[in-house]
Amino acid sequence: MNSKDFPKVELHLHLEGAAPPTFIRGLAREKHIDISGIFAEDGSYAFRDFWHFLKVYDAATSVLQTPEDYHRLTLAVLEESAASGVIYSETFLSPDFCGGRDLGAWREYLAAIREAAAEAERKDGIVLRAIVTAVRHIGPEASRETAFCAAETMGDFLTGFGLAGDEKLHKPKDFAYAFDMAREAGLRLTAHAGEWGGPDSVRDALADLRVERIGHGVRAIEDLALVDELAEKGIVLEVCPGSNIALGLYPTWRKHPIAELDRRGVKVTISTDDPPFFHTTMTREHDRLADAFDWDEGQFRAIHRTAARAAFCDEATRDRILKRLEP
Ligand code: HPA
Ligand code: ZN
Repeated sequence: MNSKDFPKVELHLHLEGAAPPTFIRGLAREKHIDISGIFAEDGSYAFRDFWHFLKVYDAATSVLQTPEDYHRLTLAVLEESAASGVIYSETFLSPDFCGGRDLGAWREYLAAIREAAAEAERKDGIVLRAIVTAVRHIGPEASRETAFCAAETMGDFLTGFGLAGDEKLHKPKDFAYAFDMAREAGLRLTAHAGEWGGPDSVRDALADLRVERIGHGVRAIEDLALVDELAEKGIVLEVCPGSNIALGLYPTWRKHPIAELDRRGVKVTISTDDPPFFHTTMTREHDRLADAFDWDEGQFRAIHRTAARAAFCDEATRDRILKRLEP
């Protein structure tokens, strides 16, 4: 099996988190911003743990200051994804980073990202859709402005709303107002949970935010009644195994719960989260999973069909993607 070659659908990717370090260093140089402290000697991003990662992420993002920067970033990221065989991708965007939650500025950033996505689709055939995320550590107040930006600009490109950031800060219900606003506008919903929070964080996201997908969600495995509930309700998990292992949530690929969740009937999908930060790519995720669990191409193709069915896109796009997933 050559993991690079078969088509893939990625549902969980932070756009800034997918920025190659060379790209960020180049922008820093152009703008005379010193962020040398966030890089290791070999040029990769350096951080100690998840909370330090969030700080390094914010520092890297600080060099992205204009819609044109995001245009360039989107092209660089989609080129990498397409090289791993990704044919459809959803990326998290934050009006917090793109214009400081000002609606007029946000429209310009979104237009630039969308234009780059169209360019990448013409060049490599990769399709992009966007999910606006509120950032937990920026807080519930800001999340209302974020949801307002999302609601005002939703459409066939911006299709989802989510919640990222420090899972230990605030409760899902503190963001319920923002999620209600997003749902009423017609956006589809997902939230990070069950990564740094335990099974209760997943229950809370489902009950208080009424999401249809969970970002990570892997720690549901610590509560088998919850696992059964996820399977019964058809909740889709955006699992990012390499991210979990890089951040020390699980010691090895074999110890990662994705295979057991799958065996128990939970809809799992495979994503990279923040690939250069975690030294991964979609190709590498598939190679490591194949090694750890003896998964073959048939298993992966089934997972990507699940992902396509759970994608936050219109039905014509979904049909097109499902066709391209056929062997
Ligand atoms: N997890 C949570 N929040 C984030 C991440 C992540 O991987 N990347 C950017 N914000
Ligand atoms: Zn994430």
